[in-house]
Order: sequence, then structure tokens, then C-alpha cells
Amino acid sequence: TYVVLDACIKCKYTDCVEVCPVDCFYEGENMLVIHPDECIDCGVCEPECPVEAIKPDTEPGLEKWLEINREYSEKWPNITAKKDPLPSADEMADVKDKEQYFSP
Ligand code: SF4
Ligand code: F3S
Repeated sequence: TYVVLDACIKCKYTDCVEVCPVDCFYEGENMLVIHPDECIDCGVCEPECPVEAIKPDTEPGLEKWLEINREYSEKWPNITAKKDPLPSADEMADVKDKEQYFSP
């Protein structure tokens, strides 16, 4: 499965949503997550994200974010169409370690 990481927080560009063939993105207040059981591992979303917030779970160290994607994809609504990024998106695009801003 692919995983949305903290780089998405306070950006939410949603370019990823547009390309997903199985509509497996779910929307929180300030980030998206991928449903790990619905993702078919096609990989097309990864290069679409302007802040490189999407990675395959085969990369080391992503366990925590995989669990967050699993948990919140069961709680948040599905999103299937691109929309405007958050107003803070460009300002927050280069900020590292955004976990502190996560909104459940
Ligand atoms: Fe959707 Fe493919 Fe990205 Fe998985 S890897 S979230 S199926 S676009
Ligand atoms: Fe987030 Fe990148 Fe998608 S910022 S909403 S993962 S395009």
C-alpha cells in the first residue's frame, strides 16, 4: 500500500485524489490518508504530490504513518475530486515534521 505522510498536513493539495483509480483517499481537516486495504499499489499518486507526501510502505520507518492512515481512513469521509489546497498550503509546503499539527 501507499501511505500519506505528515508532509500533507496543512497543505492538502489533493492532486493525488484526481489520479487514484480506486478512490481510496479519505479527508481529514488538514490532511488526507489512504485506505491500506483499498489501495491497489498502482503508484500513480506518488509523483503527483507537490510536497512528496506519498510513499510506498516498503520504505523503512513509515509504520507510524501507516497506522494513522489505517485508523483515519475508517473515520474520515471519502474524497474523490480535487479541490483547492488549504490557504496555508504554500507557506507550509517546506515545513518538516508536521506531526504536531495533525488534526484527528
Ligand atoms: Fe490510489 Fe494507486 Fe495511490 Fe494506491 S497507489 S492510493 S491505488 S493512486
Ligand atoms: Fe496531500 Fe499531496 Fe495529496 S499534499 S492531499 S498527499 S497531493
